[in-house]
Amino acid sequence: QSDLEEGIDYMFKIVMIGDSGVGKSQLLSRYARNEFNAKSKATIGVEFQTKTVVMDHKVVRAQIWDTAGQERYQAITTAYYRGAIGALLVYDITRQDTFDHVETWLEELQMHADKNVTVMLVGNKCDLGSMRVVPVEVAKEFAQKHNLFFMETSALDCTNVEQAFLGLLSQIY
Ligand code: GTP
Ligand code: MG
Repeated sequence: QSDLEEGIDYMFKIVMIGDSGVGKSQLLSRYARNEFNAKSKATIGVEFQTKTVVMDHKVVRAQIWDTAGQERYQAITTAYYRGAIGALLVYDITRQDTFDHVETWLEELQMHADKNVTVMLVGNKCDLGSMRVVPVEVAKEFAQKHNLFFMETSALDCTNVEQAFLGLLSQIY
């Protein structure tokens, strides 16, 4: 163990998944650095951020991986999912297609990650309430049926961002 990792009791790998443009990268930068970029560009390749939190007097370091939702990058999946113990599966409440694809993302996750991977389903961009097309009840029901945790968030106005990541971490812990 390096000096930097001294004092870390647990290390969790988390992956961000979901269609392109749903706000995965902005949720992560809001959580890890409290930054938001309205002109965020599509992610290319794989990036990650770490965030250290204390739970029950234990120091938990989350290593949160982020990649492109675009299909053409899906060749990296095996390495991306390896060792992941939790996932934030993000859709955009203003785009039906991104919610329709949640099931496909779940299948891919279950194929590549640990069988017991914990999933937080996240309906992002809840600040755009007037453009909503995915009712919260429909998403809630889907989450219940598939044994997922669920939250609506806004990376833009900060709603539930910390709660979504912390909720996932505490379920894993
Ligand atoms: P890929 O990297 O292509 O997979 O996309 P992504 O899921 O990482 O999306 P990204 O975080 O880059 O966000 C896409 C666009 O949505 C950007 O213009 C963001 O500024 C915007 N966006 C992200 N989160 C929110 C949000 O909560 N509310 C609003 N209104 N816009 C958001
Ligand atoms: Mg991205």
